[in-house]
Amino acid sequence: MNGVTGRMGHRQHLVRSVLAIREQGGIDLGDGGVLWPEPVLVGRREHALRDLAQRHGLEHWTTDLDGVLADPSIDIYFDAQVTSAREEAVTKAVAAGKHIYCEKPTATGLDGALELARLARAAGVKNGVVQDKIFLPGLRKLKRLIDGGFFGEILSVRGEFGYWVFEGDWQTAQRPSWNYRAQDGGGIVSDMFPHWEYVLHELFGAVRTVQAEVITHIPRRWDEQGKPYEATADDAAYGVFRLEGGAVAQINSSWAVRVNRDELVEFQVDGTEGSAVAGLRNCRAQHRSATPKPVWNPDLPVTESFRDQWQEVPDNEEFDNGFKAQWELFLRHVVLDEPWSWDLLAGARGVQLAELGLRSSAEGRRLDVPELSL
Ligand SMILES: NC(=O)c1ccc[n+]([C@@H]2O[C@H](COP(=O)([O-])OP(=O)(O)OC[C@H]3O[C@@H](n4cnc5c(N)ncnc54)[C@H](O)[C@@H]3O)[C@@H](O)[C@H]2O)c1
Repeated sequence: MNGVTGRMGHRQHLVRSVLAIREQGGIDLGDGGVLWPEPVLVGRREHALRDLAQRHGLEHWTTDLDGVLADPSIDIYFDAQVTSAREEAVTKAVAAGKHIYCEKPTATGLDGALELARLARAAGVKNGVVQDKIFLPGLRKLKRLIDGGFFGEILSVRGEFGYWVFEGDWQTAQRPSWNYRAQDGGGIVSDMFPHWEYVLHELFGAVRTVQAEVITHIPRRWDEQGKPYEATADDAAYGVFRLEGGAVAQINSSWAVRVNRDELVEFQVDGTEGSAVAGLRNCRAQHRSATPKPVWNPDLPVTESFRDQWQEVPDNEEFDNGFKAQWELFLRHVVLDEPWSWDLLAGARGVQLAELGLRSSAEGRRLDVPELSL
């Protein structure tokens, strides 16, 4: 597991996924056997790895990636490093015959992302990319509504993602500074469009066109050492996507917006038979039979509470951490050869959408999103 000292690598992948799987006694394989992940922590800073290993009672850690890749007892290479470091490390791991699981975006450009997918296919190694959002309770409930035919024809999707990321001068920033430097692989488009690609694709239909307005609202920020730097990467993107099947999706992504929503991301879906608003955890719905009939009259105060007219969609099941749920499926795919679709080619589609989103904004036009194949 490379990059486990980072925000995602540590909290979501090590603690909430792999260590949580061990705490629950491994993964029951159903035949009396148990799958037990044994992580080797990999990174650049010896002291940070040693501390982390000690804190979690883990035996194996190293700063020697080549050495660990040469070890035939290691099956899987996992990567949650900064995006710009991923391509080189994953390429090495494929060459060493390891199965690959990694964070998104899989590379900093489409060519590199496709090359990784091709290399993995040619080497015959299993491969997967983190697509955690579709495993979140809110989106799982939304998917249940779609599968149950609740919406009728889906007309449109409106997504609102974002929160204020502090500049770092009078309050420290809550995201790493590389996120705001284009030269280091940062930018909200490269970070979030890969998520929007698989969310839209899996729930509503593949993205066929993209039109985006991408901007850097806050041009100067302060880094982890309190030093000012120029924010060369985009921190907001206003995107419109045409989907296979005809629905239109609009998604605003911004690190320069203050939250006036129930959750940090929300998607409103409007269909002929009903509508729903889903966040990370919750999902509320309104059927056509319970739809109010407001009449536009700016001379009168609002007479009803529109927000109260929505019905909470019940959980009906227990939801595990989304990262852990996907880890379990990937490990089962590797060991039991169970079906799996979130591979490096799917990861490349996310990188493609980010690249086209940036180009659409730079060129001021709507772009087609060609279907990818290897
Ligand atoms: N799935 C998600 O929801 C999600 C959310 C946030 C980030 N991510 C992805 O996870 C990856 C890591 O993001 P993060 O927010 O955890 O970043 P982070 O800066 O907190 O961690 C980065 C990790 O990479 C290591 N690293 C390796 N080479 C480095 C280099 N040259 N410079 C700096 N650090 C280096 C660091 O030591 C650290 O362990 C990114 O690719 C990001 O796109 C995914």
